[in-house]
Amino acid sequence: MNQQTERRKRILSGIQPTGTFTLGNYIGAVRNWAKLQDEFECLYMVADLHALTVRQVPAELRAHTREAAAMLLAAGIDPAQSILFVQSHVPAHTQLNWILCCNSQFGELSRMTQFKDKSAKHPDNVNGGLFTYPALMAADILIYNADLVPVGQDQTQHLELARNVAQRFNNAYSPTFTLPEGYITKAGAKIMSLADPTRKMSKSDTNVNSFVLMTDDKDAILRKFKRAVTDSDGIVRYDVAEKPGVSNLITIYSVFTGKTVAEIEQEFAGRGYGDFKTAVGEAVADALAPIQGEYSRILADKAYVDKVLTEGAAAACRIADRTVQKVYKKVGLLQL
Ligand code: TRP
Repeated sequence: MNQQTERRKRILSGIQPTGTFTLGNYIGAVRNWAKLQDEFECLYMVADLHALTVRQVPAELRAHTREAAAMLLAAGIDPAQSILFVQSHVPAHTQLNWILCCNSQFGELSRMTQFKDKSAKHPDNVNGGLFTYPALMAADILIYNADLVPVGQDQTQHLELARNVAQRFNNAYSPTFTLPEGYITKAGAKIMSLADPTRKMSKSDTNVNSFVLMTDDKDAILRKFKRAVTDSDGIVRYDVAEKPGVSNLITIYSVFTGKTVAEIEQEFAGRGYGDFKTAVGEAVADALAPIQGEYSRILADKAYVDKVLTEGAAAACRIADRTVQKVYKKVGLLQL
């Protein structure tokens, strides 16, 4: 086999350090990241620069960044296998960002639904970073020539833009960037709010019962699942259109027990929602307990977390700096 066929596909993904991750972040993203490490060459990034598109309290952002890294480690990201780093520790991202901004069109950036949503949500802070956010995200991906990018449904438009920008650059100069593909996992790709199962679970929701945090204790988890909005027909059956609440709980239960939808429907046939909700809460609490233990242990060891991030940044810089050098040369920036 030659080098080309031997090379494992490269994965890059990122998560914003906007506070404790929810169960939705875990099921939809982080949990899968850990599983991909055996098969792929993985780079995982705490996207602190992206977080700045919304006003942050500096001390909190700093703390959340370390916490996010600790949670990723607790959830099974292995620094011996993967590169775990903080976005702002790799200056090349912002260097490539500028070049890609100059290769992105106002029109295409204007069409991003996340930009429209976030501008509507924060009308007092529709900043330039919010607008050019997809160019930075494209830089994150293209700078490593990532083949695959695990992202949620809400990021597919940004990924598409990254592909378009990559292609445009390759055509305008010469083949430079790998065109990245989305890597969307089917099971539990989107976990819905426990209070309004037609909306995505989000910790920015004002109703704290609508989301489970990765650090919630067993009592809180059981209570939140007990209060989860379902419907009035009392039958545990998977039907997203008619029974979004129950279907969301089935998805969550399936993720943590490994049981199929049919097995779950069978298990709770004729038993009503009370038993079912308790079982879901128990399954989640049992699954999170070891992660929470690891998280506390790792977070208490700042020196360890910082060492992992220092080494991660160095490894990421080695790849990213090379790409930037190439790109700078191609676009005609003077090299001395
Ligand atoms: N924009 C992503 C989000 O909010 C986070 C992110 C930043 C990302 N850079 C990335 C995801 C690169 C995948 C690849 O969820």
